[in-house]
Amino acid sequence: MRNAAAVRHSILLALALLFTPLAYAAETEGAAAPVDWESWQAGNEVSNTASLQRGARNFFNYCAGCHSLKYLRYSRLASDLHITTAQLRANLMPASASPADYVKASLAAADGVAWFGKQPPDLSLAARSRGPDWISRFLRTFYADPSTPTRSNNLQLPNPAMPAVLSDLEGVKQAVFRNVETVVDGKQTTEKQFDHFVTVVPGQLDAAQYEAFVRDTVNFLDYAGEPAQVDRRSIGVWVVLFLLVFTWFAWLLKKEYWKDVH
Ligand code: HEC
Repeated sequence: MRNAAAVRHSILLALALLFTPLAYAAETEGAAAPVDWESWQAGNEVSNTASLQRGARNFFNYCAGCHSLKYLRYSRLASDLHITTAQLRANLMPASASPADYVKASLAAADGVAWFGKQPPDLSLAARSRGPDWISRFLRTFYADPSTPTRSNNLQLPNPAMPAVLSDLEGVKQAVFRNVETVVDGKQTTEKQFDHFVTVVPGQLDAAQYEAFVRDTVNFLDYAGEPAQVDRRSIGVWVVLFLLVFTWFAWLLKKEYWKDVH
């Protein structure tokens, strides 16, 4: 009898444990959690050539005015991205440049300092130093802020010298913060924490299109950080295929040798 009670007890306990996470999830769902922008990822694929081509077009239209890619030559870019020299000249390269040149910014360094307070950095290695996710979050978390010289601000890089150059496409967002009470060393302080964005002026692209625009742009910067990775990946496929075929031959050979031994 005591045994039966104990069994019933443990079954109840197991059921309770089983349903606890559900009950908890249901409870937190009601109160809208703050937007977790820190977990946003770039989601780009360097093996996707069409995406790289779109990313290159985005970069030359919206970034190359201020940012250079000083380790990347136009000719290298064209051959890696399967762009013809004619397309390169017509769409990406300034008329004064030659395909053997490195990608330069149109903006003179001195003007950069005069206009933005600092020279826009070269972006050759940005994807390697900051990581694609960081750049993606940077491009997606600009918001209006009249208190700064650029009248905008950013969650990933607070008070950036870079203006919100993509607001025509994305629209203008306002950031909504909420006050969170925290106790540090027994002292109560109020901290402003980001909650969510509100679009106040819509852009030319909707949210999904803008996300795709950023994904392609980041993809191109990821490629630019290490152009060889495009080749390396396609070589990798051939190496694996070669090894498979080689294994098959080795197996046939082994069969041939051992045929007479048995
Ligand atoms: C009007 C000039 C201008 C344009 C156009 C521009 N930027 Fe910037 N960018 C800047 C300046 C200035 C900084 C320096 C920001 C700082 O450090 O406060 C910067 C910083 C950055 C950084 C941070 C680099 C780092 O590691 O700190 C990234 C990434 C970046 N820009 C990407 C882009 C991309 C991508 C585009 C095109 C969509 C773009 N920028 C267009 C001026 C510009």
